[in-house]
Amino acid sequence: MKKFYVTTPIYYVNDIPHIGHAYTTIAADVMARFRRLCGMRVFFLTGTDEHGQKVEKSAATMGTTPGELADQVVVRFKELWERLNISNDDFIRTTENRHIRAATELWRRVAERGDIYLGEYEDWYCTPCESFLTESQLSDGRCPDCGREVERLREPSYFFRLSKYEKPLLEHIEKNPEFIQPANRRNEIVSFIRQGLKELSISRTSFSWGIPVPGQEQHVMYVWFDALTNYLTADGWPDRTEFWPADLHLIGKDILRFHAIYWPAFLMSAGIELPEKVFAHGWWTVEGEKMSKSRGNVVDPFQVADEFGVDQFRYFLLREVPFGLDGDFSVRALKGRINGELANELGNLLSRTVSMMTRYHQGSVPGPNPLKLRAELESKMVALLDIYSRDSVYRDVESSMDRVAFHEALSAVWKAVREMNIFVDRAQPWSEKDAAQRATTLYILAEGLRIVAIYLYPFMPDASERIWHALGVEKSIEAVEKDAQASFRQVARWGGIAPGTKVRRTAPLFPRVE
Ligand code: MSP
Repeated sequence: MKKFYVTTPIYYVNDIPHIGHAYTTIAADVMARFRRLCGMRVFFLTGTDEHGQKVEKSAATMGTTPGELADQVVVRFKELWERLNISNDDFIRTTENRHIRAATELWRRVAERGDIYLGEYEDWYCTPCESFLTESQLSDGRCPDCGREVERLREPSYFFRLSKYEKPLLEHIEKNPEFIQPANRRNEIVSFIRQGLKELSISRTSFSWGIPVPGQEQHVMYVWFDALTNYLTADGWPDRTEFWPADLHLIGKDILRFHAIYWPAFLMSAGIELPEKVFAHGWWTVEGEKMSKSRGNVVDPFQVADEFGVDQFRYFLLREVPFGLDGDFSVRALKGRINGELANELGNLLSRTVSMMTRYHQGSVPGPNPLKLRAELESKMVALLDIYSRDSVYRDVESSMDRVAFHEALSAVWKAVREMNIFVDRAQPWSEKDAAQRATTLYILAEGLRIVAIYLYPFMPDASERIWHALGVEKSIEAVEKDAQASFRQVARWGGIAPGTKVRRTAPLFPRVE
């Protein structure tokens, strides 16, 4: 059985969860559910990044300890993942013993390789971003990423010999064109490495909220050395590994350098296999503006879910913007997608189908009679059946998911939804005089919707289950997801719904919003 290991970044606990956190985690959830449906053994990891100066400072400002702050904020993250229907297999906190052990061991191995030496560090430092910056990286004397003030830092520090990995990294990226995605981001990383890599400071003595450097307890590990190791820790490293190397690290574009340069360099040094793929997504603005606490426009995912629905939110995030590009979150755009695609095109199709079966067929799925379909409808029906029976939806969805192109997977499914709408408008079963023709039309709609629901399940688990429920399918899609033997492809084959199945009238799948 093939395995699939997908990760989100682990989130800092100095801030409460916002749309940016929700975005990566929902994307990872969709990928995890899709791979499970494909029959893979999936390990889906998320968690929190709890050490470092940033967390220490936030805690001090709030008059609490970093440990207490972490304990409070981690609850919010866990609640959010539950609310958003996230199916993570593990949740890692970097303050856990298993992680402290793993980070310490990784440090030891890198040191053993001769890649760590003691020196003195002096440079500009941006505390909110936890990153050292050279003079040339500053923009107007400020942090190029967050625009805030930087400070001069000088302290004894252990260094990692990053420059030693310039060539091996470039070779690896060249040999594995899929390693860093999307391609424009890969090119940025390549040119960054080509400009030459400086040795990396990987310990601090100026604060203490971190994992102690083995044998040198006045130093704590640089938070990124500690944090990146989480991907190994959760898999049981160093005692055993079951899923490593990760198949996909999903991250935001701002933390690509850490994942595409530092992380693989640490792993090479320790003699550990590299992850298969690092995919950096874009950033959301809000109503056209950069999202920030000072602007007061931070989008609270709990609130969006309460107001518009969890599946609507999940759908919007992955449909609105091609994964990898920046996008804008606006209430208008969200409402447009809900009322248009979700309510009119999908929800309405389901309720029409179910109510016609109720009206004309005593509430059950009729048997098809394709031979009886009128000639002018036949071409439409053939086009529709073609989409399903030749597995073209399956192949389009699968190849989109392999390329981490969520929006394309959704478009592929929507092609089928649109064809069904065109078909029903032509066939007009509500004014059909010939019962056999109508039965055929309704069967096609019911079966098409059953299949569409499977494809949509990774994106909108709840709504998809409700489609099956309305169509009277006995099994749940979750059961298919959990059952490694049930092949998704088999379940998605045309003809799965049995004539005579009792349908159920239900509340609108996606209520319209004004
Ligand atoms: N702790 C580090 C990651 C360590 S991984 C070993 C970190 N944490 S974070 O809490 O700051 O969150 C990060 C994630 O949120 C990043 O992937 C970042 O790209 C994402 N986003 C933050 N704001 C965002 C938007 N406005 N839009 C989309 N994603 C955004 O970095």
